[in-house]
Amino acid sequence: MPTRHIEFDHTRLAVHLTGKGPLALLVHGYPLDHRMWLDVMHGPLARRRTLVAVDLRGHGSSPWCGDATHPMHTFADDLAAVIRTLTDAPIDVVGLSMGGYVTEALWAQHQELVRSLVLTNTRAAADTPLVRDGRQVAIQDVVQNGRRKLAESMLQKLVLPRADPLLRARIQSMIEGTAVETIVADLRGLADRPDRTALLPTITVPTLVVAGEHDPITPQAEMQAMAQAIPGARFVVVEGSAHMTPMEQPQAFAEAVGAFWVD
Ligand code: MLT
Repeated sequence: MPTRHIEFDHTRLAVHLTGKGPLALLVHGYPLDHRMWLDVMHGPLARRRTLVAVDLRGHGSSPWCGDATHPMHTFADDLAAVIRTLTDAPIDVVGLSMGGYVTEALWAQHQELVRSLVLTNTRAAADTPLVRDGRQVAIQDVVQNGRRKLAESMLQKLVLPRADPLLRARIQSMIEGTAVETIVADLRGLADRPDRTALLPTITVPTLVVAGEHDPITPQAEMQAMAQAIPGARFVVVEGSAHMTPMEQPQAFAEAVGAFWVD
């Protein structure tokens, strides 16, 4: 799979491409990287779109830029730079969880670059005070105790208890491969992100909202309410999945997205 590096303003982002046709940008969650999309990228969607999986700054093959925090709006400006480098046309964007928050920020800031949206395992609301406090605890914990413990505790919620051990190991190695300084900056950016609920009725491009049947992080009821707030949005629940729906059920995820994308 070819990798390109896009450079601007002391930032170097890696994008991984496969497939043919118009571009679709895939935006990963916290604290992961483009590899979470590999099962989807090896499936039928690559016959319909050139799939572009980005490594957000500090993740995967994109180096940390020295930022103390990673605000969602900075990630969104990075995506805008990637899109403008690759094409003149608006593109389909798919974001999971934190990638969904970034996708919402992209819509808020650069809607002329967006052709359609897939928001998967994500939400519009800001953190509750409890979740925000939990991010502070997570920062102290990862700095003091390292990434293995973070990965082990996150895995309890990211995938179903019956998930394949290899799938768990793949997610664990992504988390353990992400620099601690990136994890800390992500957690600060996540805690400070704005409430995007009022943005939802302003979305005028076709939108698909995908929930995992047993997702404890972004529950399906909250995602359904989110879909209802977006004019004309479709809502799909993928069975047999928790939070990592594109990895846990790549075929069902690809079917839902494939049925949604127009040629
Ligand atoms: C993610 O998967 O990106 C995170 O769970 C998002 C979050 O913690 O809000």
